[in-house]
Amino acid sequence: MIALGIETSCDETSVAVVAVKDNQPEILAQEISSQIKVHRPFGGVVPELATRQHLLHIEPMFQRVLKQANMTIHDLHVIGVTQGPGLASSLLIGLSFAKALSIASNIPWLGINHLEGHLISPFLSQGILPHYPHIGLIISGGNTQIIHVKDLMQYDIIGSTRDDAVGEAYDKVAKMLNMPYPGGPQIETHAKNGNVKAINLPRAMLNSGDLSFSFSGLKTAIRVYLKENPQVLESENMIADLCASFQQAVIDVLIAKTFSAAMELGIQTVTLSGGVSCNKSICEAFLKKAEAKAIKCLVTQSALSTDNASMIALVAALHHQSGQRPDWSADINPNLRLTPGWSKQNYR
Ligand code: KG4
Repeated sequence: MIALGIETSCDETSVAVVAVKDNQPEILAQEISSQIKVHRPFGGVVPELATRQHLLHIEPMFQRVLKQANMTIHDLHVIGVTQGPGLASSLLIGLSFAKALSIASNIPWLGINHLEGHLISPFLSQGILPHYPHIGLIISGGNTQIIHVKDLMQYDIIGSTRDDAVGEAYDKVAKMLNMPYPGGPQIETHAKNGNVKAINLPRAMLNSGDLSFSFSGLKTAIRVYLKENPQVLESENMIADLCASFQQAVIDVLIAKTFSAAMELGIQTVTLSGGVSCNKSICEAFLKKAEAKAIKCLVTQSALSTDNASMIALVAALHHQSGQRPDWSADINPNLRLTPGWSKQNYR
């Protein structure tokens, strides 16, 4: 089975070819065109600029990945494209391109939930197909969710943020520290030189008795701390301590909630995915905790943590294998959620 993946949910255009042979997925070719430089002067993603970049890059990227994979379009069995969640104007470019390719080639296309792609990326990183059940933690700029993955397309969201997503908290704190967008990698770099115990910051909802998160209080605590201690911004060491303390507060809550979900449900595998899972300190803390609890922990390799088309291609391959067919009436859905059996209605 050979699948083409197309991903344009936000500010990265990506096209990939993934093969599944003898129950093993392999990325034959992948390109990602990042728009960070285009959006950086504005401090965040500008939707119209993102749309134009997708439009410029998608067709030549498609031609290049086919060439790298040594294939023609007729070698593909399915075209998978991100249908949501994401920016409406960005999603429209990918979906329109996929529908046009499908019409021109007669190869079926499938709309894929971007979050389902993130959930599969830790397995793709290991070159294996997903096994079930597992607990997936998705941490990105727009999402913080704990998902009980019971089977292919059987998702139960058992924990999520009540306010900011983890990546959003990283980006907002970085902005307060005058660091460029995106702030996550900047904070991680500074945190390496800091003391995690230097500043006592809140671990919101740590003992709430459920699997909900809240990060806006942590962000506010840092704003108040900076107001009371403006000298921090002048000192590299103090900035490092603040970043390390912030990051530790995030790690403590993510670990407590994810592992308590696994223990309560008696599940032996946890996975970590989404853009924030590029963070080595977070990954190391998860792997250490998993070892102590004798639970398997799969983290996502950096190249597959941020938005990429390989994860979309692999989900499309599995859905195609299990009988999903194109739904030509399908539109983009910027607010698409993972719900139990969310795409079952597309099955014939
Ligand atoms: O999944 P993603 O590429 O985009 C979506 O949100 O869909 O995630 C981007 C987020 C940004 O908030 C960025 O600051 C964060 O991931 N991020 C990180 C790191 N690398 C990216 N956060 C913490 N540490 C990192 N190393």
